[in-house]
Amino acid sequence: MSDSRDRIAAEQERWHREVAAPSLARVPERKPEFTTNSGLPVQRLYTPADVPVDYLTDLGFPGEYPFTRGVQPTMYRGRFWTMRQYAGFGTAEATNARFRYLLENGQSGLSVAFDLPTQIGYDSDSPLAEGEVGKVGVAIDTLADMETLLAGIPLDKVSTSMTINAPAAVLLAMYIAVAEKQGVKPEQLSGTIQNDILKEYAARGTYIFPPGPSMRLITDTFAYCARHVPRWNPISISGYHIREAGSTAAQEVGFTLANGIAYVEAAIAAGLKVDDFAPQLSFFFNAHNDFFEEVAKFRAARRLWARIMRERFRAQNPRSWMLRFHTQTGGSTLTAQQPMNNIVRVALQAFAAVCGGTQSLHTNSMDEALALPTEQSVMVALRTQQIIAHESGAAETIDPLGGSYYVEHLTDEIERQARAYIAKIDELGGAVRAIELGYVQREIQEAAYQYQRQVENGERVIVGVNRYQVDEPPPTNLLRVDPAVQEEQIRKLAAVRARRDQAAVDRSLAALKTAAAGTANLMEPILDAVKAYATLQEICDVLRSVFGEYHPSEEL
Ligand code: 3HC
Repeated sequence: MSDSRDRIAAEQERWHREVAAPSLARVPERKPEFTTNSGLPVQRLYTPADVPVDYLTDLGFPGEYPFTRGVQPTMYRGRFWTMRQYAGFGTAEATNARFRYLLENGQSGLSVAFDLPTQIGYDSDSPLAEGEVGKVGVAIDTLADMETLLAGIPLDKVSTSMTINAPAAVLLAMYIAVAEKQGVKPEQLSGTIQNDILKEYAARGTYIFPPGPSMRLITDTFAYCARHVPRWNPISISGYHIREAGSTAAQEVGFTLANGIAYVEAAIAAGLKVDDFAPQLSFFFNAHNDFFEEVAKFRAARRLWARIMRERFRAQNPRSWMLRFHTQTGGSTLTAQQPMNNIVRVALQAFAAVCGGTQSLHTNSMDEALALPTEQSVMVALRTQQIIAHESGAAETIDPLGGSYYVEHLTDEIERQARAYIAKIDELGGAVRAIELGYVQREIQEAAYQYQRQVENGERVIVGVNRYQVDEPPPTNLLRVDPAVQEEQIRKLAAVRARRDQAAVDRSLAALKTAAAGTANLMEPILDAVKAYATLQEICDVLRSVFGEYHPSEEL
């Protein structure tokens, strides 16, 4: 330890003997041990003696390797993070109206939530879609719905995220096709498709095809975007859902970056050069309740990914080393009890994301433990971001918590633990194999069990849930999706089928089937099918007929 740290450590022992111990004798601390939300031990006090970081190696400067302090040289002094509220319900018309409402009120990017049938490649008139059409997101069956969804929105000026995974290539094709109809070229488009199938197998569940074909579709979108849609982020490697499933902060980083490694390896194996696609990889994390742990988590993830990309993959382009990420405040932390309390939780979580250097942010609404958000609750959520941006001071300097002994200690500790998870996954044969073996799922389940046990036994206080409860009337003014949406959507779909050129549809689907059976990039044939107004399910069924479907009972 350096000399000054030695002296501080010695002085701290004196302080403990002479000052802390007598106080503890008089007033013991309120619990036997203190931990972060994820169970990391928390010391009474942190000093430089606890933080053996080398500034130039471990922190550096914003916009430079290892990017610990941020990916942009000026961060929010140059541009605020994108305020990007996840939105979608009912029909494309209803969601388009919500998008416009959000943009008119200061939102700076779009984020599309699709209903479950769309997410798993079924049309609204499929028996399997019964009861789910337009429920947890917008129903998109054909290009016609996408045209309605994006009507009046300038796609050369607004960046759009689409939370779509298994059929991501199809929704990307629809987006490109709508842009072309607006006279916007693919190279002008900016946005993201989530397109992260590994976390679907491990934690979320909206998969369709087995891993091999899924990884092919993903690397096809990488290759296509690198050439034709260079500003598009073809993947949002997600830790959000891993955390929502109950992982710790270190697991969120470790498992997400291990998935990132698997995607990079798959793209290289598909013949791509790492610097051709890595600059457009993006990430997506959760912002959970423990403010300091979350800030440290984001900083650790940025530094670790930079080191992985430069050391393991020998990427040369500094943009390949940058971990650019979106954050959503933790849905699983929202309580149905005393919903107004959630405004405070979301504000603290959003503040952590900003202090942690996020590029884009969604703030949950107070009523989302009960239903999709109303206009009023989504407005409070957006205003939360704007207050943090304009009134909190957090955007006035870069990495404001950098140098905090506690945060730097946690940053080191989370990076160390995440590295250990990645090493374990490497030992098992990589992320796909680790998921196949159930290793990732078991680790998450164990962490979730430990956390829930602490809530049940009161060790972990959830205000309004296991302490400070009140009798409260049932919630009112919740958003309910009208079940008539399903009928309306089915009627619209029938009308598209009736007016389209069926021969063109058939030709495009036949061509897609031939291409899927070969090794060619599937984006062009999918684009042709989309432009012929083939439905999402017709396209996915062609791919199902060639690739088969993944079933959890099978080996991945
Ligand atoms: N100085 C100079 N330039 C700056 C700057 C600064 N300080 N800050 C930003 N910029 C530039 C950037 O370089 C970029 O320019 P470029 O396009 O020429 O590169 C531009 O400003 C926009 O900045 P970002 O790219 O950082 O911000 P975006 O918002 O466009 O992108 C992202 C952020 C994380 C890279 C992107 O992938 C993104 O938007 N992701 C969003 C993902 C998302 O919303 N997911 C929702 C999932 S919902 C879900 O799954 C939950 C459900 O399942 C429950």
